[in-house]
Amino acid sequence: MSEPAKRFTIPGRGDVSEWDYQQWRRQCVDSYQRADFPARLVTWADGWGAGKVQPENADWKRYWQHVKARLDGAGVTLAFIGGRGTGKTQLATCAGRHVCLQGHSARYWRAAFLSENIKRGWDDKATESERKTLASVLRVRLLVVDEIGERNETEWERRNLTNIVCQRHDDSLDTILISNHDPDEFAPCVGDSIADRIAGAGVLVFHWQSFRRRGENGLANGG
Ligand SMILES: Nc1ncnc2c1ncn2[C@@H]1O[C@H](COP(=O)(O)OP(=O)(O)OP(=O)(O)O)[C@@H](O)[C@H]1O
Ligand SMILES: [Mg+2]
Repeated sequence: MSEPAKRFTIPGRGDVSEWDYQQWRRQCVDSYQRADFPARLVTWADGWGAGKVQPENADWKRYWQHVKARLDGAGVTLAFIGGRGTGKTQLATCAGRHVCLQGHSARYWRAAFLSENIKRGWDDKATESERKTLASVLRVRLLVVDEIGERNETEWERRNLTNIVCQRHDDSLDTILISNHDPDEFAPCVGDSIADRIAGAGVLVFHWQSFRRRGENGLANGG
């Protein structure tokens, strides 16, 4: 008996030719590379995708399932908060990979660099990419803003972030905000407008030990 013909399916487009599928796949990979997630975390996410590494910690895995389910195209605003090295940026990178490989766009920014780029974009001497920063931040399907509240932010920076998050929320786009705050510090740091838009189960607290310190003092890292 002959083998059934292999099918090539693109989400939202259905079955296509192998050539069209390979083109689309390449565009997805390009989009993920342009998203600017930290290289080390991209390597880990790709390794997981290829079955070469496995995530530790049952709560982290549960959070991943929760985040993946929320990135369903309806637009969600999420916050990942908690101590250093607990896998917040890693989970956001996996989210970026997931979104890009579905054919959408994503972009990773550290909060301080994002503000600087937007400010420079208004200067006469701005580069083309600086000039376009704000527009692209408002358009991209998944925006990740990391290290929020890392430095003493100015009132301008806080208002800027609020406007970006609110506009994206209104446009049903996905946004992940990341910080090292405790749960009771986070809402005062980002302000009422953002806190209110982060849906009920939208604040994920990464409450375990740093993955960077695993093995120290013989402490296990699982569960
Ligand atoms: N579930 C996991 N299993 C195994 N390793 C992980 C897991 N999550 C993250 N890591 C690894 O742990 C390290 C720290 O992760 P990450 O940079 O995401 O932490 P973070 O919470 O963003 O820390 P910080 O607050 O300092 O930025 C990375 O090397 C990452 O690949
Ligand atoms: Mg981080």
